Amino acid sequence: MAMKFLVVGGGGREHAIARALSCNPNTVIYAVMSNSNPGIATLSYGYSIAQETDVERIITFATEVGIDYAVIGPEAPLQCGVVDALEKLGIGCLGPSQASARIETDKAFCRRLMKEYQVDGLPAYRIFQDSAEAVDFISSHDEDLVIKPIGLTGGKGVKVMGEHVDRAGAIEYARSISDGIVIEERLIGEEFTLMAFVDGRSIVPMPLVQDHKRAFNGDTGPNTGGMGSYSLSDHRLPFVTDADYGSALRIMHDVVSALDRSGTPYRGVLYGQFMNTVSGPKVIEFNARFGDPEAMNVLSILSSDFSEIVIRVAEGTLRQSDVVFEQKATVCKYVVPEGYPDSPVAGDPIDIPRDNEALLYYANVSDTDGQILTRRSRSLAFVGVGPTLADAERSAEAGASSVIGNVRYRSDIGKDEILMRRIAHMKELR
Ligand code: GLY
Repeated sequence: MAMKFLVVGGGGREHAIARALSCNPNTVIYAVMSNSNPGIATLSYGYSIAQETDVERIITFATEVGIDYAVIGPEAPLQCGVVDALEKLGIGCLGPSQASARIETDKAFCRRLMKEYQVDGLPAYRIFQDSAEAVDFISSHDEDLVIKPIGLTGGKGVKVMGEHVDRAGAIEYARSISDGIVIEERLIGEEFTLMAFVDGRSIVPMPLVQDHKRAFNGDTGPNTGGMGSYSLSDHRLPFVTDADYGSALRIMHDVVSALDRSGTPYRGVLYGQFMNTVSGPKVIEFNARFGDPEAMNVLSILSSDFSEIVIRVAEGTLRQSDVVFEQKATVCKYVVPEGYPDSPVAGDPIDIPRDNEALLYYANVSDTDGQILTRRSRSLAFVGVGPTLADAERSAEAGASSVIGNVRYRSDIGKDEILMRRIAHMKELR
């Protein structure tokens, strides 16, 4: 029987979500997005252009077209309570309630929950409501610190001393934050992402992925929403030992259990961003959704039925056997407008020859009578899938380098050199 699925969001991550849903011929896809994503538009039976935080319009559209299940891509609609509103109408969701999404939307809540339920991997932290007190704290410490606004910042609000800012810059930044600040110890190590499907109690992990935040090759330049990511065919990363992986998974279990015990069970995708340190994985943050770009890595190799996973998460009946990924490596490379992220050139035409095998996911572009134009954020992503990382990288590179226009991408993501550097760094720390 045909089932109607709503995708909320219009970026590369949501194109990957729509594509994964479309693998089941019985799914009928609808979307709500703030800008028409050509990839999602093509896969959808119908869509509405609306702000992804406009819960009323999402509800009206979902009711009009008779949606059965919804997948929420970005964090902002979760914060606005879109899942609570959809569930009231009997629509099952892959996405947490407003209360349990606080694991991402309220960084002070996340740290307090971890402390109260004694979840491992908690860095040393302090919470400040008053920025003057935060400034005093930063001034009186010698070691490097991390400054995090408590609320959502679109992934670009965290400033790490010694990486993004010096002490004077950290003080100036803290002074500019009015809605509460979490200050944490600076963690040294290698970052990795562990995402899991969660049905309230059970969690089923996805392959490990490593994202690249910096704008330019060699991890230089300003922080971005993520320039690309890779995963390996064994679904692990070589600088994450079995023991590290076991610890990270236990931390994910423990935080899901803490949310359940505190009366806000979590249903959706839980994203753990970890720093692998000399003393094991520490939690940088949790997100209440798929990562972008990481969603494109994992959904491109999902061999089980994604629509069935959504239904089982919503109904609280998820089993390990419902989630199967191909034993393949993936590399995702984002193509971005020249000048991104600080002064992106929007409105420039880009041509995308489809003379390569890489999967193409549209992100923040507009389509004017068949001509694709850049907008201010990341434009397109190419995902290479192959038996080895080198195969996947070659494929993603062929896709990204084929684009003609005023755009650029990171050519180093997924290359052996970067992986060797990560392994050597971890060895040196240990
Ligand atoms: N890849 C980082 C994020 O999705 O927040």
